[in-house]
Order: sequence, then C-alpha cells, then structure tokens
Amino acid sequence: MELAGNARSISAHYSRAGLTERIDAALRAAGLGEGKLAVADLAALDQFHIGGIQATLALAQRGGIRAGMRVLEVGGGVGGPARVLADSLQATVEVLDLTEEFCRAGAMLTRRAGLEDRVTFCCASALALPYKDAAFDAAWTQHSAMNIADKPRLYAEVLRIVRPGGRLLLHEILAGPGGPVHFPVPWAGEPAISFLAAPQELRRLIASSGFREVAWIDETENGRAWIEKRLAASGAPATASPLGIGLLLGPDNRLLFENLARNLRENRVTIFQGVFERE
Ligand SMILES: C[S@@+](CC[C@H](N)C(=O)[O-])C[C@H]1O[C@@H](n2cnc3c(N)ncnc32)[C@H](O)[C@@H]1O
Repeated sequence: MELAGNARSISAHYSRAGLTERIDAALRAAGLGEGKLAVADLAALDQFHIGGIQATLALAQRGGIRAGMRVLEVGGGVGGPARVLADSLQATVEVLDLTEEFCRAGAMLTRRAGLEDRVTFCCASALALPYKDAAFDAAWTQHSAMNIADKPRLYAEVLRIVRPGGRLLLHEILAGPGGPVHFPVPWAGEPAISFLAAPQELRRLIASSGFREVAWIDETENGRAWIEKRLAASGAPATASPLGIGLLLGPDNRLLFENLARNLRENRVTIFQGVFERE
C-alpha cells in the first residue's frame, strides 16, 4: 500500500521488521508453539490499549455487540479486540489497519486461534475505507483515533459504512486539562503523529457527523489504576512475559508506559468510552 505524509510516519512508528516471526518464536517460548491458541492466552500481547481484555468486553457490552453482527475495527492492530468479539460474542469482524506488519501478524494469530472465518484483515487507511455504504452493523475504534488528524473525515467515513441505526463504539485516549503530553508515549514517539481531541470537542464533532450519543463514560480513573498496578507489579510489566506487548512496542516499552502513567497522573490525558448510533 502506498502511504503519504502522516500515514507513512504512523506506520513507521508501529512497524517492527519480522514481527510475525518474532511472535511465532515467543509463542514457542511460552509453550504455545503447537495446537489451537486460546484467545485469552494472547491478551498480554494483542490488547494494545489501556484496560486489556476487560476494557474490550466492557465496550462491547455497552455498545450491545451480539452474535452475527458485522463489525469494522478501525485501526485494529494485530486484532486482539476483534478476536475477543468473535470468540466471546460470535461477531464477525473486519480489522482495518495501516500497518502491514500488524495485519500480517494478526492474520497469523487469527489462523492459530481458529477464527479466520470470523476475523479478517485489510491493510488500508481509516480515512478512505474500502467498503460500500452501510456495510457494517457497527464500527469500533480503540486507541487508534489518537493518531488521526483529520477527525471530521474519519467520522464521515465511519458514518458512511455503518448502516442506519448501526453504532460507533469508541475507547480512546483524549486530551486532558493538565497541559501538553510528555513524549514518547505508546502511540507516538513525537508530537507530529499525536492528535488528541478534547472530550467535549470530540462529542460535538461526532454528533455533527450524524450520530446520536447513547453513552459517554469517563474511564480515566480506571485506566490510571490499571496502568499503575501493572507498573508496580514488576520491574518491566510490558516485557514480563515473552508474549508481552513489548513485542509490538519495541525495546523502549517501559519508558512509553511510564510516560503514559505520568501523563495520566498529571491530567495531561484522559480516557473515554463512547457509544453512538447512526441517525
Ligand atoms: C495503539 S494501536 C491499537 C490497536 C487495537 N485497536 C487494539 O486496541 O489492540 C493503534 C493502531 O491504529 C493504527 N492506525 C493509526 N492510524 C491509522 C489510520 N489512519 N488508518 C488505519 N489504522 C491506523 C495503527 O497502525 C495501530 O495499529
């Protein structure tokens, strides 16, 4: 895929050469080299957001994800949330992501989990969704809008591909009142690829895009507690297991998490889940 401007920098931030092979080696080291993988066994690696699998399930419940629904996960990474929705709730999920290496690794993990009939991958941009109008029952963004500058276009695209009465479910890190973000953080090594909206600004934008608000929940305290607990639990929470999120974040993962925790402590970032319905 040809990437321009920001998209190239964002993809470069997340890309790790040989990721699929390194995940494969980590699976072997964790004793999971053979046989079918359980979705829960992958949670330390593939839930690339604050709150882990519980945050994914909470959003699914708040948004009413049910068996048979067609969901588009926009910026779905290696597909952790998608596999949870497919496995626990029998939804059918297309994962769309800019980062080719993530799509490749995600497809491998999905095959190993035996979910390839319900979870598929597409390497493309959230700003030009390659789908027909009203193709999905729901769109899902979880810690991906932070990298997207053109939010009016993002929500216009999301509105277009969700059927009337369908939903947008989001779980995002947003700007806080405490001042500028300390970098690097997990979604950006530098300010040039970080675009945090303020909570009220985002709600207004989504409403003006054609969605009715169903739920808006402040998850900042839960997120802060979650990350502090993990930082306190061991010297290197992100790399404690060979199958940890350090595989996706690279060698600086400890610093990225410490900065995220500091940004939360200093109210520089907030965390929200939201559910919206297409009018
Ligand atoms: C922090 S990860 C979150 C992954 C996943 N949603 C999860 O919670 O496990 C952010 C993801 O958004 C993707 N992303 C960022 N900007 C994007 C864009 N414009 N179009 C598609 N994907 C994008 C990145 O490639 C990355 O995989």
